[in-house]
Amino acid sequence: MHYFSYKDGVFNSEDVALSEIASLYGTPTYVYSRATLERHIRTIDGAFNGIDHLTCYSVKANSNGAVLSILAQHGIGADVVSGGELFRALRAGIPASCIVYSGVGKTAEEIRYALDNNILMLNVESESELHTIDRIAGEMNRKAPISFRVNPDVDPKTHPYTATGLKKSKFGIPASDALRIYELGAQLKNIEVLGIDAHIGSQLTDVSPFRDAAERLAGLIDRIRSLGLAINVVDIGGGLGINYDDEFPPGPAEWAQMIVPIFKNTGCRLIIEPGRSIVGNAGVLITRVLHIKSNEEKTFIIVDAGMNDLLRPALYGSYHEVVPVEENSTERRVVDVVGPICESGDFIAKDRELAMPKEGDLLAIMSAGAYCMTMSSNYNSRPRAAEIMVSGNEAKLVTKRETYDSIISQEQL
Ligand code: LLP
Repeated sequence: MHYFSYKDGVFNSEDVALSEIASLYGTPTYVYSRATLERHIRTIDGAFNGIDHLTCYSVKANSNGAVLSILAQHGIGADVVSGGELFRALRAGIPASCIVYSGVGKTAEEIRYALDNNILMLNVESESELHTIDRIAGEMNRKAPISFRVNPDVDPKTHPYTATGLKKSKFGIPASDALRIYELGAQLKNIEVLGIDAHIGSQLTDVSPFRDAAERLAGLIDRIRSLGLAINVVDIGGGLGINYDDEFPPGPAEWAQMIVPIFKNTGCRLIIEPGRSIVGNAGVLITRVLHIKSNEEKTFIIVDAGMNDLLRPALYGSYHEVVPVEENSTERRVVDVVGPICESGDFIAKDRELAMPKEGDLLAIMSAGAYCMTMSSNYNSRPRAAEIMVSGNEAKLVTKRETYDSIISQEQL
């Protein structure tokens, strides 16, 4: 569900025409809808009202300061995976007590930064990391609050690059080793073990892997407690899929109905880490058609957004719907929508039937709120896109487009 729609033949974000945004701010430009974000926050966070819980939005999906401050205003916490994300979350006003820190490779500096700011907990992914945190916390003369991220070995049935809870993936501590690690954690002087954590993958379109992982975690909670150790928090990660094409992902209510009964009697506080399901369909990327060319096999629509702006099709073969900003064409044709980057992998859509645009027309690339701007780069020395937040009939520039000067600002000759 989102608030992007046609009004009088022009595609709008809430009550603002995307053509107006393009003429004011240029292209390529990301446009977010505040009403969509707020709706997703309410439905996802609200679905878990039956249990003591904290929603920790996964900042990697979209780390824009305006997005984070809307989440902060709604009492949403953050799941961060780097010092940079922690910095952004704190700056946007998310309280440290609502921030969890995940990731397989935290540096000593990042661990110190997190402890210094008193975040809720670090999700520990290896024995080596546990010892590093114990040492740093000792140097700081304090106890580090942690959970262990366990790898439940569940197939999330998603793209292999976004599956994280299988034995062959680098994430977490093997479930078979969990009890030993919990006993070790309990012996370390500068460690306070709060809970257990898992994240099995992203863009899940079926609830059963969530159930399997939750049941495995619940079983582990019983076994850890039977050793006389306390577990007060269970973090089930994120992963709920969204609709890009013709998927039918479960809704937040279905997700919650599956999870909540499994943990209700544990008395644990539940943490969820949704990313994509909050921001994915709250953003679009507007791009302008630069040129059109055809050969015997193909028609190419060459646009001013490339794989440096939106990497998902090139990296995962992902589908993003492409729609005209102005409904001015009746001819439909099968085309490739491609970017200006010097790589054959630089495409937005392949063999896609579209209302045939003309040079200079604007297109909107849908479902571009998650893992699009955050995965963008300066490849081909292209300045990164501007970002706009729309609320009702107001459009605010929340990130300026980069300039040639800003992209070389850290270089020294
Ligand atoms: N928690 C942890 C520990 C994660 O690693 C992730 C995502 C999430 C939560 C949020 O998952 P979500 O609710 O957004 O599915 N770049 C890929 C997605 C990578 C996801 C990485 N981890 C893409 O564009 O599809």
